[in-house]
Amino acid sequence: MVNFVAYNPVKLYFGKKVIEKLPGEIIPYGKKALIITGKGSIKKLGYYDELTNLLDKSGIEYIEYAGIKPNPVVEDVEKAAELAQKENIDFIIAMGGGSVIDTAKVVSITAGSDLPAWKLMKKEVSPTAAIPLFSILTLAATGTEMNAAAVIQNHKTQEKIGLFHPLMYPKASFLDPSYTISVPKDPTVNGIIDLTAHSLEAFFGDGDAPLSDRLAVANILEAFDYSNDLLKDLTNYDLRARMMWNATIAENGTIMHGRAATGDWGTHALAHHISLLWDTPHGQTLSIVFPAWMKVMKEEIPHRIVKLGQLLTGQKEISADDTIAIFEMFFKALGAPLKMSEIGLNDKDKKELLHLWKQNKPTGLNIKMNENHYEKIIELI
Ligand code: NZQ
Ligand code: ZN
Repeated sequence: MVNFVAYNPVKLYFGKKVIEKLPGEIIPYGKKALIITGKGSIKKLGYYDELTNLLDKSGIEYIEYAGIKPNPVVEDVEKAAELAQKENIDFIIAMGGGSVIDTAKVVSITAGSDLPAWKLMKKEVSPTAAIPLFSILTLAATGTEMNAAAVIQNHKTQEKIGLFHPLMYPKASFLDPSYTISVPKDPTVNGIIDLTAHSLEAFFGDGDAPLSDRLAVANILEAFDYSNDLLKDLTNYDLRARMMWNATIAENGTIMHGRAATGDWGTHALAHHISLLWDTPHGQTLSIVFPAWMKVMKEEIPHRIVKLGQLLTGQKEISADDTIAIFEMFFKALGAPLKMSEIGLNDKDKKELLHLWKQNKPTGLNIKMNENHYEKIIELI
């Protein structure tokens, strides 16, 4: 195991009606909020009114920046940051899924440090301060509610990239699984794929960390255990709660300790290009890329893929191919795509994707990729 620091300052409230604890957490930080929201689901569902009623009762003033799109863009970060500065707000409340919370995180450092958003994303400048951020999660998937990462895309530079900075940890996050009962089947599937992929990224990180291996595999087995039942019974609170916690654990550091860096993340880097080009939901990009990445990488890390299979099944003799097949079958059974053709993309699109990979050179933190890998992966997807 390599040396590590275990640090996660996010206070997480989990369970029914936890939103009621929000005023107690925000009041020490001031009296005026910027609420950041998505394209309207939370308004139709009544969650936004619950929030504003609470703020009204607590004497908190608020303004809103609405309309964050899935696969969020830097232009929204810039506009929301400008509004935050102009209105002199004391804190940000993000209510929504990963796209909304990620946007809010980058707004918090952009406005708080008075620095250009994309330069921050590109690490050309470093944030010096952040506006305090609180998140109310309405979709289980990314784990952003309890980490310091944000992923934003920029169509001008043709990039979708992540930034990790400790100033972006939310001060507190509020996770009420009942808010996720309204999430339709497809985005629920995307969330299951995403949290499974995060557990895999952690597993394929650099270094020997047996307990982290087991924790990552336990997180995957948990998803295997409830997914089928949940997809048949989307309004089941207990199953929604299992998924929500499963997604948080996959990306809050718990399963990553003892490795150099926090995992591999090469698959995410490849998959982000599919979202960038065709606005594909994040989960679908991962069900397409992860099995193909494993098939190509089985030449380089056969022992790790076999180890994954052994821990998942308890069988000593399992092969790398059989291990990869477990994930293909799982994703297929969920109804997720394994090929680009299943989301309406063709050979010309594949060429465009390959071209962008060669241009941007996505790679893992542990398992490095080159053009040869891209060409093999594109053949398989
Ligand atoms: O826009 P609205 O109307 O709010 O609708 C959203 C959106 O269309 C809808 N939704 C949210 N809560 C709902 C709901 N619909 C019904 N009921 C509810 N309770 O769901 C749609 C998808 O939302 P989005 O926020 O885009 O999904 P997700 O949470 O999967 O976030 C995806 C983004 O997070 C990034 C991804 O790359 C992608 O941009 N990631 C962030 C990470 C992080 N910060 O740690 C790690 C991940 O690997 C990932 O890269
Ligand atoms: Zn992800």
